[in-house]
Amino acid sequence: MIDIPKDGKIVILTGAGISKESGLDTFRGNGGLWQGFRVEKVASPHAFHENPSMVHSFYNERKSILLDKEIKPNAAHNALARLEEKWQGNVSIVTQNVDNLHERAGSKNLIHMHGELLKGRCISCDAIEIWQEEMNTESKCSHCGQIGSMRVHVVWFGEMPLKMKEIEHLLRECDAFISIGTSGNVYPAAGFVDLVSHYGMAKTVELNLEPSLNADQFSNGAYGPATEIVPKFVDELLSKLT
Ligand code: OAD
Repeated sequence: MIDIPKDGKIVILTGAGISKESGLDTFRGNGGLWQGFRVEKVASPHAFHENPSMVHSFYNERKSILLDKEIKPNAAHNALARLEEKWQGNVSIVTQNVDNLHERAGSKNLIHMHGELLKGRCISCDAIEIWQEEMNTESKCSHCGQIGSMRVHVVWFGEMPLKMKEIEHLLRECDAFISIGTSGNVYPAAGFVDLVSHYGMAKTVELNLEPSLNADQFSNGAYGPATEIVPKFVDELLSKLT
C-alpha cells in the first residue's frame, strides 16, 4: 500500500477509535463520552478546582471500566505490537488514548501524549505514581505525604500534551506517518499530518472508520473497523520483508 524502505522509520498516531472494538467508548459521535457533556466541566484544571469530587468520580468510572476483565487489546493493538517486533526500522506509537491497551498488547515504543488513566499525579510535588484504585479528595501522595493533592495523570483541556519535543523529533525524522482511529478534532495531534508533510517526503496514511476532518491531508487512506483494516495494513507492510 505504501512504498517505504524496509528499515524506514514509522510513526503511528492512535486515537479512541482503535480501542472502540475492545469495548471503550470514543469521545465524539453517537454514544461518545463527550455527548451531552461540556468537556471543560470535567476535563479542565478549572473543573478540578471548582469540583474535585465530580472530576474524580468521572475518571474513577473510566478506570473501573478499563479494569473490567472483559476489556482487552484487540486485533488492531496486537497488529501494531507485531509490527514493532518484526519491522526492521524504528516503529513508534504516539497515542492520545489514556487506556493501557497498547502496552498490554506488547507495544514498547509508546508515548502517551494525553497521559495515563491508571496513574495519578500530585499537584503539590509533581510526583507521578501508578494509581489503579479509586481516587478522591482524601487521597494521599505517597511521595510528599500531602492529602487531597492527587489528580488523575490525564492531560486536560488548556494543558500542554506530554513529550511534545520527543514527538516533534519523531515526526521530523519519519518515513511514514500512520494515523489510526482519531477524528482530527484535537490539536496538536490533529496537526501532526500537516507537520510531517511540511518536514519532508514521508508517506502519510489514515486508517479510520470514516474519513476524519483532515482526511484530505493524507496521501493514502483505508476506511473500516480498526480490527480489520489495521491487521491488513500491517500484513501488507510486513510482506515487504519476505
Ligand atoms: P474521537 O472520539 O474524537 O474520534 C474517534 C474516531 O475513531 C472517529 O473518527 C471515529 O470515526 C473513529 N472510529 C470509531 N470506531 C472505530 C473503529 N471501530 N475503527 C476505527 N475507527 C473508529 O476520539 P479522538 O480523536 O481520539 O483528549 O479524540 C482526541 C482527544 O479528544 C482525546 O484524546 C481526548 C478527547 O477530548 C483528552 O481527553 C485530552
